[in-house]
Amino acid sequence: MVDFDYAAALSDNIATLILLLLALVAGWVVFTLNKPPAKDAPVKVPIGIIESMNRLVASEAPWWHLQLRESLGSSIFQHNIPAPGGMYVICSAKDQREVLLDTTSDKPLHLYSSFDSIVGHKHIFTRSTTDPLLKEAKKSIVHAFSSSEIKRMNAICTKCIKEWEADFLEKIADTDATFDPSIELPKVVFKSIVEAAFEYEATPEDFELFTSNFDIAVREIAFRQAVNPLRKLFSFMIPKVWEARKCCSVMQNFAKKVLEAYRNNPNKSECNTLIKIVETKLNHFSEQHKTAELLSLIVAGFDSTGYTLANTLVLLAKHPEEMKRLQQSLLQDDPAQSNDHLKRVITESQRVIPVGAMGSVRLINRDFILFDELSNRKVKVPKGAAVFLPQITSHRDEMVFKDAEQFKPDRWENPTKEMVQSFIPFAVGKRTCPGQSLANAELFSVLSSILSKYEFELVAEGKLDFFMTMKYVDTKLRVKRVKA
Ligand code: HEM
Repeated sequence: MVDFDYAAALSDNIATLILLLLALVAGWVVFTLNKPPAKDAPVKVPIGIIESMNRLVASEAPWWHLQLRESLGSSIFQHNIPAPGGMYVICSAKDQREVLLDTTSDKPLHLYSSFDSIVGHKHIFTRSTTDPLLKEAKKSIVHAFSSSEIKRMNAICTKCIKEWEADFLEKIADTDATFDPSIELPKVVFKSIVEAAFEYEATPEDFELFTSNFDIAVREIAFRQAVNPLRKLFSFMIPKVWEARKCCSVMQNFAKKVLEAYRNNPNKSECNTLIKIVETKLNHFSEQHKTAELLSLIVAGFDSTGYTLANTLVLLAKHPEEMKRLQQSLLQDDPAQSNDHLKRVITESQRVIPVGAMGSVRLINRDFILFDELSNRKVKVPKGAAVFLPQITSHRDEMVFKDAEQFKPDRWENPTKEMVQSFIPFAVGKRTCPGQSLANAELFSVLSSILSKYEFELVAEGKLDFFMTMKYVDTKLRVKRVKA
């Protein structure tokens, strides 16, 4: 009697099944990519899948999208990426607002979930808009951003900037020494946000540890693995993945240390600090959940504000006549006028270099029929699509902003309604930035403090770069005291 080899038969069947499945997937990809487009379908980006994925996560992504709008002659286009529902880009602010304000649109959780493994748990940034835990967390943290809390936090920021002026700027002022604002200003903002919102006195070593580990973790987990999911599957043989995981633990341990220091602090603030809210109002959250919320708030807050400050200083140093005019107005006795002038400079800096240049991504839950003014036709973006809404394309739209590439603060003296509506650095709708009043207060107080005492000369411009945020890198500024 011949023995029947059940194990071999089973593995043969499994192998056949896998092959069949692969063939089906390949067939589906070929079919969807070659289907003739509908009349109102968005134009497709004419490059291959791998190149599209690589360019989407590359540091040139914002400029690539500006070029695509030009070369395709369309404000709405589809990336050649076989994502479920397709991946689209909407460039104009009018249409971006429609998506952001639509109550059925949501964050595409499958694209954001890599951040959960970085901070250790689902958190505000990566939850669905309808998730009761998101609603609860957002409702609670609102108290940390009341006007009295903003005033308190801004006073701490002012103290930190004065310390930086005394310890750093004063020492190099009127010498040949130079500094890189994209290195210095995020440090100051990190220290001030961690102290004001988390009652923790961060050291320069904390900053180094936090930023270097975050950088490594995000590059691997949110970027390389997004382009190549096999990296996650075969992580056991990829040292860069092990390193990234170690970095995640280091950051999570930093958040644990901050929470522990708060618990052991005998002089806790009576104010509604973010850490107090997380510890008391969200006290039913697990430890892992609490530290994830803390980490995400630090990440969301310090580099966006720090790099906006740095970008503004570089733009002013590149336009010395604008800096002189602003300084003259800051030294005048009319605070209303000088405030308006500084507001215009900050707005224009955020317009021309939006730190969140790639903006928001939304999963749309209905068809959007939009009129594309650039190609002059109706375009349908279908239900189920993931839609990129880059700020750089709305902020640099020539149909709204003349000489859109140029830094011209005066354009905000009498802005049109269209200009105001096209300016969306903090996004709009239900997922708009909860920290924007803190950010605005800090931008204002830091810049008015340093620009009324110092002027900055551009020694080396460096270059604009994008990785999570848009900022100048390798810039060198020289600082001089303003003559009274
Ligand atoms: C100039 C500074 C800032 C800019 C340009 C900025 C920009 C943004 C943008 C565009 C979003 C929406 C992202 C999306 O739609 O996916 C956002 C969300 C968020 N921001 Fe900010 N932000 C800044 C400062 C801050 C600060 C200081 C904090 C808090 C300390 C903060 C906390 C958050 C949080 C928690 C979210 C997630 C909200 C949600 O998902 O519902 N941001 N920010």
